[in-house]
Amino acid sequence: MNKIRSAMRNPVSDAFGEEQNSPFDLLNDQAYLDWRRNKLVDYPDSADAIRVSIADPDSPSLTERDAISRLCAKTNMALYRVDRPLGKDGALKLANALGLTRLDVPLYTEEPGVTEIQNIATGRQGEYAPYTDRALSWHTDGYYNAADSQVLGMVLHCERPAEDGGVSSLLDPEIAYIRLRDEDPDYIRVLMEPDALTIPENVESGVLIRPARTGPVYSVIDGYLHMRFSARKRYIEWKPGKTLERAREFLMNLLGDPDGPAFHHRLAAGEGLISNNVLHTRSAFQNGATVGVGNGRLFLRARFEDRLSIRKEGAGNA
Ligand SMILES: [Fe+2]
Repeated sequence: MNKIRSAMRNPVSDAFGEEQNSPFDLLNDQAYLDWRRNKLVDYPDSADAIRVSIADPDSPSLTERDAISRLCAKTNMALYRVDRPLGKDGALKLANALGLTRLDVPLYTEEPGVTEIQNIATGRQGEYAPYTDRALSWHTDGYYNAADSQVLGMVLHCERPAEDGGVSSLLDPEIAYIRLRDEDPDYIRVLMEPDALTIPENVESGVLIRPARTGPVYSVIDGYLHMRFSARKRYIEWKPGKTLERAREFLMNLLGDPDGPAFHHRLAAGEGLISNNVLHTRSAFQNGATVGVGNGRLFLRARFEDRLSIRKEGAGNA
């Protein structure tokens, strides 16, 4: 379980020491501006700039681990490449080697572990967008999780790409935070309200699968900024209010801007995303006429209650 703190209740930031030094405290512009300056220095400008090759996924070298750690400290994500299929065990082993160990419990299997993501036309999983060939809207993983079990880190690994499509778009939530706060600090204020976003309960055939989850969009967990977001239109309840409406509109425009700060990359076989649960989406894909379930696009996903990088004192950016 992780400790969640909304700025409304307590802006204390462990990683930044004293409360008055938290860059995520709306009353502390100087701490924010110092952090913002460091954050944006040499910030990578494309997916190509955050890629790392791993020679042996069973045992990444210190250099490889350092490269991923530095990228994650800067952008909250890295793209890695290995030269062989990982399988579920291999993906978990790689995540563990990179510091992600506390697995989230997925909603559908109710067993912690690595989940296969592919186009499944039938069955319970097939009712959920990730297990189709449809586009996914922008989100962070586990936005429907309990407040004390947020997904802080995740691995998304491509075993087999689709014949066409399936492009990932990725945005560092800290960059979105900067754009929002620079535009209007009140956007951050409303996004950090503890009742900003509710995901209604999930009931299947009269059985409660998951209770309703209410929480902030932005929060501070153990001193780090955390984002809980979904752009879905259905099964979501936003707290009423003009400022929150405008904040959401601003964020959606940022996410949808083809010249905006999001990275775009189509993961090839052997490539994966390792991240502190950044904002992400997926375009629709096609497996091809001769490809069916079992040999089409196959991704592996593992979610964790750990973050990847430990921010060094003061700066927060490598
Ligand atoms: Fe996701």
